[in-house]
Amino acid sequence: MNTKPYVDQHKDRFINELIDLLKIPSVSADPTHKNDVIRASEVIKESLKKAGCDHVEICETPGFPIVYGEKMIDPKLPTVLVYGHYDVQPPDPINLWDSPPFEPVIKKTALHPDGAIFARGACDDKGQMYMHVKAMEYMTANNELPCNVKFMIEGEEEVGSESLGWFLERNREKLANDVILISDTGMISKDVPSVTTGLRGLSYVEVEVTGPNRDLHSGLYGGAVANPINVLCDMIAQLHDDNHHITIPGFYDKVEELSKEERAEMAKAPFSQEAYNKALDIAEEDGEKGYTTNERNSIRPTLDVNGIWGGYTGEGAKTVIASKAYAKISMRLVPDQNWHEITELFQNHFESIAPASVKVKVTPHHGGTAYVTPIDSLGYKAASAAYEDTFGKTPIPQRSGGSIPIVALFEKELDSKSILMGFGLDSDAIHSPNEHFGIWNYLKGIETIPHFYKHFTEMSK
Ligand code: BES
Ligand code: MN
Ligand code: MN
Repeated sequence: MNTKPYVDQHKDRFINELIDLLKIPSVSADPTHKNDVIRASEVIKESLKKAGCDHVEICETPGFPIVYGEKMIDPKLPTVLVYGHYDVQPPDPINLWDSPPFEPVIKKTALHPDGAIFARGACDDKGQMYMHVKAMEYMTANNELPCNVKFMIEGEEEVGSESLGWFLERNREKLANDVILISDTGMISKDVPSVTTGLRGLSYVEVEVTGPNRDLHSGLYGGAVANPINVLCDMIAQLHDDNHHITIPGFYDKVEELSKEERAEMAKAPFSQEAYNKALDIAEEDGEKGYTTNERNSIRPTLDVNGIWGGYTGEGAKTVIASKAYAKISMRLVPDQNWHEITELFQNHFESIAPASVKVKVTPHHGGTAYVTPIDSLGYKAASAAYEDTFGKTPIPQRSGGSIPIVALFEKELDSKSILMGFGLDSDAIHSPNEHFGIWNYLKGIETIPHFYKHFTEMSK
């Protein structure tokens, strides 16, 4: 199998098709973009048809539709189920973008001398999902599709995949497969390919602290009543101790501890703390005592404030004690923490540390279970062989700090393993202003994916 000539020959079209998709602001979190999200689903459906799926459909759900496509060539052959998402994160803060988020441009960067496409969703996940559509086109156009394939592309990943959970429960048969293939993660670097073997779980909550029943003059009342913003900051500060351990009682009870051997294995992945700090322009890294940076961001649970607001934030100064203060808090979880339990522990603890001078309300949002996949499965071996074919190197297994909550549910509902072949780089700025995806990475992904199908089918014999 030699995928490169076809990819080289069609690369301009592959890039332009992706650019057209990136122009659609399919922001699932923002109700004003509802029609754009739906429009994106229709574009995906058409692209799957053109790529050679025999049957494509838009499956309605209580939320955004799921695009389904398939090509079944022989029931005796294995079936690969491709998962991806066509929704994107909100582009905010817009003023920090160098070019508008939904007007894709190609620019060269130090890490992407061949150019990168700058747009919201370029890497997460439109670009990576579309690699699979183009890999499908390659396989059907060249008569090299060795097995059955199903596509399931959703539009609610960035808001918790609720409708996909609903869809899985109702369509186990339709979605039956031998392996699930996903590109929605990253790799270590362009010359160090890696396969993601773990994802963290998540518990996401919002907190509201209420002090006096109305906003007050900070001179007339300041010092005499609790300021909810001061109190919220104080409460948040109490959630970690001096060693950056999380102080919620019971939080670590079910955390899987890795053996010395496993940690030594992890430490072999190439990593420079100095380059890491330099890329982020920080004088020093920071995190839980006793763990390395790569451990802190993958095998350890965390608690972070994602947003905090209240009071006056407009131009100039206003002297006021606000009635309310708010924060959005996420906890990244690891095996075998249960996100429902953790949410409850957080809620009880947060309420218990509130001083009597304020009222506290905790509202749970979405969550998800962590995932770890073994490296001796057929799927992992096929992925490894695919990278060997196109990178000339054996990929390194690496647990990621990000979350794709639906992956644990796939295992539960569909009883199959997910293989996470990510082609993005950490520096691609997903969820940030100036998100981008390297052209090299995009094309390399399209070249590599058909090799996975080939090896998986051969190894299944
Ligand atoms: N594709 C990301 C997750 C990801 C990125 C995992 C890079 C590993 C490496 C996904 O779209 C995402 O952003 N997930 C959310 C969780 C979701 C429930 C909103 C996350 O990790 O914050
Ligand atoms: Mn994603
Ligand atoms: Mn994302």
